[in-house]
Amino acid sequence: MTLVDIEQVVYPDDCDAFGHLNQASFLRVFERARWDVLARGPGMDVFARHGAWPAVRRTVIDYHAPAFPGDVLRVHQALVHHGRTSFTMRETARRASDGTLLATAEFVFVCIDREGRPLPVPAEVGEFFQARPSAEPADRLTVNGVSLAVEHRGSGPGVLFIHGFPLDRSIWRHQLDALTGFRRIAPDLRGMGQSDAPDLGYSMSTYAEDLVALLDALGEGQVVLCGASLGGYVAFEFLRRWRERVRGLILMDTRPEADSAEGRRARDALIGRVREQGGIAAAEAMLPRFFTAQVPPEIIEQVRATILRTPVPGIVGALSAMRERPDSTPLLETLTGIPTLVLVGAEDMITPPVIAQGMAAAIPAGRLMEIPDAGHLPCVEQPVPTTRAILKFLQSLG
Ligand code: MLT
Repeated sequence: MTLVDIEQVVYPDDCDAFGHLNQASFLRVFERARWDVLARGPGMDVFARHGAWPAVRRTVIDYHAPAFPGDVLRVHQALVHHGRTSFTMRETARRASDGTLLATAEFVFVCIDREGRPLPVPAEVGEFFQARPSAEPADRLTVNGVSLAVEHRGSGPGVLFIHGFPLDRSIWRHQLDALTGFRRIAPDLRGMGQSDAPDLGYSMSTYAEDLVALLDALGEGQVVLCGASLGGYVAFEFLRRWRERVRGLILMDTRPEADSAEGRRARDALIGRVREQGGIAAAEAMLPRFFTAQVPPEIIEQVRATILRTPVPGIVGALSAMRERPDSTPLLETLTGIPTLVLVGAEDMITPPVIAQGMAAAIPAGRLMEIPDAGHLPCVEQPVPTTRAILKFLQSLG
């Protein structure tokens, strides 16, 4: 949903000695715009009614251009993350007369009671912004210095699902529901979904270290790794270091090579755009290439919402981790004894079937399955045949 833009006038007493709108007043502009927009929806007293005050936990503001007395600022707002007790608003201020971008800000709130204890975000707030808490309820486990959200369901042989960029565990919804008879473990990687998003420290090694620590915490020895795209890059790193923990491998719409020089330049350019504009830049870059032309629009909207909820540090961190990832081609021929299913959407534009064919041929126990009428995310676009292919493979492991 697009919320109505809120206009705010800059007054002389909001400005510093040089006549610019000063920082404290900028914060006030953003703050007033938030209350104004709530006044047009569930009411300014929505938090008071629930006894759950939205306390600011973190604010990041980028100032792009000065504003002067008499300027009218148009403030655009979006809810970009909705967790159980926390939410993040992204606000953009432009000069109404010429559309110049003046400042962008992100505010992370935690709803608390009078004693400072976290409380759920009032449902009306999420409803007003048409946002729901991402995915199914998850446990939180602190491993390797971060708190990760993880869904783990069922019992039986363990399968660790590793999602792609810039997404979260919700891409595995159908597989998590359907693959009964297995212990399905689906975390949000650090920086994505409901997991913590530290500012720094993202690499394939860190993601893999998080996952092995998560398996330890859940008491899982050996698992089947199932990685989609970025999840495949993480699976390669995991295999390099903890091969003995892997009893089978599913590589979905991924590639073994490192980024080319051109690919790295594209990562840098996207990092710049995401820093400036937020997750919308990542959504614009990825969504047109994720699906076939036949995909239902509501699937695109769901995935767009997932991307917009992804915190900026997590998007930037994943882009730099992918930029720096090593070439995993030499690993493939060493995977003797690891049964591997290479899955690919027949119409994937990002990692086309020819790449999957090459990987399946290079891996000693590799087999290939193309999913018709699917692009880069067959688990989302064609969940039934994808789940069926995964199930057949898992059953073949005995
Ligand atoms: C993904 O889907 O995870 C990304 O497309 C991977 C990439 O950009 O290399």
